[in-house]
Amino acid sequence: MTESIPIIEPFRIKMVEPLPRSTPEQRREWLEQAHHNPFLLRGGQITIDLLTDSGTGAMSAAQWAAMMTGDETYAGSESFFELQRVVRELTGLEQVIPTHQGRSAEHILFATLEVRDKVVLANSHFDTTRANVEVLGGLALDLVADIARDPEAEHPFKGNIDLKKLEAALEEYGERVALVLMTITNNTGGGQPVSLENLKAAAALAHRYGKPFMLDAARFAENAWFIRMREPGQSQRSPRSIAQEMFRLSDGMTMSAKKDGLVNIGGLLCLKDAELAAKARTLLILTEGFPTYGGLAGRDLAALAVGLEEVLDEAYLRYRIASIRYFFELLDQAGVPMMRPYGGHAVYLDAARFHPHVPPEKFPGVSLCNQLYLEGGVRAVEIGSLMFGKPGERETTDLELVRMTFPRRTYTQSHVDYLAAIVRRVFARRSEVPGYRICWQAPVLRAFTAQLEPVTLPS
Ligand code: F0G
Repeated sequence: MTESIPIIEPFRIKMVEPLPRSTPEQRREWLEQAHHNPFLLRGGQITIDLLTDSGTGAMSAAQWAAMMTGDETYAGSESFFELQRVVRELTGLEQVIPTHQGRSAEHILFATLEVRDKVVLANSHFDTTRANVEVLGGLALDLVADIARDPEAEHPFKGNIDLKKLEAALEEYGERVALVLMTITNNTGGGQPVSLENLKAAAALAHRYGKPFMLDAARFAENAWFIRMREPGQSQRSPRSIAQEMFRLSDGMTMSAKKDGLVNIGGLLCLKDAELAAKARTLLILTEGFPTYGGLAGRDLAALAVGLEEVLDEAYLRYRIASIRYFFELLDQAGVPMMRPYGGHAVYLDAARFHPHVPPEKFPGVSLCNQLYLEGGVRAVEIGSLMFGKPGERETTDLELVRMTFPRRTYTQSHVDYLAAIVRRVFARRSEVPGYRICWQAPVLRAFTAQLEPVTLPS
């Protein structure tokens, strides 16, 4: 039998940054100073930071080289034209508008489409997307397939929109529907991909009802890779050709380039319709800057143009998804409850089943995050009742998840082995951990700033 060859990180390291180390005593003190909310920790207090994959990845030598030759011309930066060329080739969308990050692209899109009293239909809206629809007086509806709500159900494309629900909503809301939006991959639903077949069917439905079909394309390359891996008939295609096909189904897209753009800051709003784009550019000048830089430095545009090419490299995507799978399988072997199957950018622990003695109103996700930090200086993020519960309305949510999000090209396999060992240790004494109670919270988006204190529970 020929020996199978491991999938390796497809890069070598040219510049290193020391990992902050700490003692258990220091971590206990720092967590207390942070009011038991890991969002309030400082970078230097964290050994491995899995809070987010947004803007936390490593750029390549080629991207740093492009930074040096970035053109800082205010109007008409050459770096903009290079980015425009790359984006047009990838997406087929003629109107390319840079923004400083994803949420500003969303705000400008929804303001341009005048969503007041209108409805946006999506598989799932990411939080900032929903907030931008709602702040402009619109209604954001999530129509993800029912299977996505069951963390244990296995399905290759749990990010798919329910086409029957989509059609019913298009009928019901008629004139009021502003657009159909597909988030690829579906971050809110566990980083789960959307199939090409589902994208095609959703686009056809939107167009049959005369509505624009758009993508929230923050993790478009990871979605393309899953289509290649999991969708019948796609295994021989390049991720680039799949991505090109996805974008060509659409009338526009917003993108947080901090994910699959492989940059630390940046976003894009791209549109087919020149008239709509002209309106968007007027808003852009008000809030972001001149249309050839959109809130970014010329060097940021230059690095993004390179990142959008690098992210479709097959060796990169194979390694990226393999590292998530590797972590998922290590935890699965140890019996750790998780959202299934593994998604694109993170592993989601099921805190409700991890700490069954902690009731939702005592925030089991916070318990788990804090134990990971105390045990190994690992920061993860609670996606459960602290994040989505609404004080005075609905205090708890259906799912209590903890997202362990992988920055791109940043950590190696031995870091992943370390992470798995830390999770296993916390799992071994899972019944001994406290719950939490809120001492102070902001009226909106409370998770980011809430102050908490531990409460002892019977195990
Ligand atoms: N859309 C999706 C699917 C996202 O995941 C994000 C950000 C945004 C839009 C907003 O983009 O941050 O550049 O303004 N997600 C990050 C996360 C913050 O941690 O999942 P942004």
